[in-house]
Amino acid sequence: MTTATRNISDGTGANFKPNSQELLEGKAPTQEYFLNEYAREDWIAPWDIGKAQPNLVKAEEEGLLKGEILDVGCGPGDNAIYLASKGYQVTALDLSQHALDRAAKRSKEAGTPPDNPHFQQADLLKPVTKFGERQWDTALDSALLHCFPPAQQHQYLKNLHPLVKSGGHVVLFSTSDANPDPWVGPQRQSKADLENLFSEKAGWKLEEVKPDTYSTPAMGSGVMHIWHAIILKL
Ligand SMILES: C[S@@+](CC[C@H](N)C(=O)[O-])C[C@H]1O[C@@H](n2cnc3c(N)ncnc32)[C@H](O)[C@@H]1O
Repeated sequence: MTTATRNISDGTGANFKPNSQELLEGKAPTQEYFLNEYAREDWIAPWDIGKAQPNLVKAEEEGLLKGEILDVGCGPGDNAIYLASKGYQVTALDLSQHALDRAAKRSKEAGTPPDNPHFQQADLLKPVTKFGERQWDTALDSALLHCFPPAQQHQYLKNLHPLVKSGGHVVLFSTSDANPDPWVGPQRQSKADLENLFSEKAGWKLEEVKPDTYSTPAMGSGVMHIWHAIILKL
């Protein structure tokens, strides 16, 4: 199946033609999807809007991003680059080295300080050992959690947990059940799903969950409904 280069400039989704792996219909994408698609030079990801997500910009303005930032599943890097340009120290991780290469190129073009963001390949479905004991004040999960099927979501959060300082936070943007049928995107999650994932037993406290939107040309409306959650690491 060929993947057409998609026009992301109009923001309406009118030019978005999903490839066969992007018709998820409520299921999580495979890990191969990310690895294979980013390797294609002409592929524009459905989440690639060429700038930071507007909800991240809002969260930053509201002071929700504190201290050193770990951007997990950073993709083409615009969120991390935005935060670095605002003066944060940012470490940005992704499964795909091709995604990180795109991010590093954008970072250079944006003129961010040397090695900030620091881009690093890492698979969050495995324990991340390459940083030793290092921990971050804030982890940003912008559309990563919903990329994993439910069983793997617990594994991911187990791996994320030691990377966040006690008293630090996760800022989460993740698909919600407010997205109506027919639905072609990744799994929709209820508030109860988040409560189950971020339980005190697992070492988290869900402090705030509110409805928000995530910009993506993959939706006809240009946005996907998400939960905007703030989670305390106990
Ligand atoms: C939906 S995209 C979101 C990208 C970016 N955070 C944004 O909001 O524009 C999810 C990203 O997570 C990455 N990813 C998927 N599985 C991962 C894993 N196991 N470990 C680290 N990153 C992963 C993908 O390569 C992809 O870039």
